[in-house]
Amino acid sequence: MPLVNAKEMMRKAREGHYAVGAFNINNLEWTKAILATAQELNAPVILGVSEGANKYMTGYEVVASMVKAMIKSMNITVPVALHLDHGSYEGAKKALEAGYSSVMFDGSHYSIEENIEKTKEIVEIAHSLGATVEAEVGSIGGEEDGVIGRGEVADPTQCKMISDLGIDMLAAGIGNIHGQYPANWQGLDFEALDAIKAACGDMPLVLHGGTGIPEDMIKKAISLGVCKINVNTECQLYFAEATRKYIEAGKDLEKKGFDPRKLLAPGVEGIKEIVKIKMEMFGCIGKAGE
Ligand code: 13P
Repeated sequence: MPLVNAKEMMRKAREGHYAVGAFNINNLEWTKAILATAQELNAPVILGVSEGANKYMTGYEVVASMVKAMIKSMNITVPVALHLDHGSYEGAKKALEAGYSSVMFDGSHYSIEENIEKTKEIVEIAHSLGATVEAEVGSIGGEEDGVIGRGEVADPTQCKMISDLGIDMLAAGIGNIHGQYPANWQGLDFEALDAIKAACGDMPLVLHGGTGIPEDMIKKAISLGVCKINVNTECQLYFAEATRKYIEAGKDLEKKGFDPRKLLAPGVEGIKEIVKIKMEMFGCIGKAGE
């Protein structure tokens, strides 16, 4: 199946009371691991790519070509969206030109007026190309590619203003942060989520910072309108741990254990393991065709 945008995925997730996982990719191994897991579990999936990861992989076109070709070569039949994560205004335009099927324009650090203006423009371009748009209100805390957010709780009135611009998904800060949650984290602000949901109606909501959010909070967030959940750090942690174990066991020194195809294999399995755990938690397993 060719790349799809996130529109149908979000509609089905909202109606079916589950969330689609958006997993960040960094390279071929990441992409392969996530696509294989989605296919095995018959789950729709969103591949998120940050601007930093795009740069690391040498550009939007390389990423779009790799993902499209891999969907074909791996016979992936579940719906897959290729989504720019936390895109800048320029980045979103470049990703769309390169064939991304979905973009996040993160205008949360602009004034609300400027966020509205720029989001409107990106929506127009994206929709003319058949792509979907996620916008953000209230910056998500933690560190994302060197950008430290303040962990704001989004204002429902502003959410409604952005939501009315024809966007397809809305990321709103509700006390969530990127990266691992500190021991004294207060948890998600469900009152805020409730108010945002009341203001924005059926707009599919996006929960960033999916790493380490306990299952009961994930389930409650889904019941309050969250249809897409982003996970990045946890895949990195599983990859790193499996790779470390392999090296600490001295396996890279046995026979041809230094061959990258062998050296990176445990990490790939680690990514598959955590993607499966998350998909189970999000309730999206078996939902590819529904
Ligand atoms: P984590 O790294 O905390 O999983 O967050 C991912 C994310 O929200 C990407 O936008």
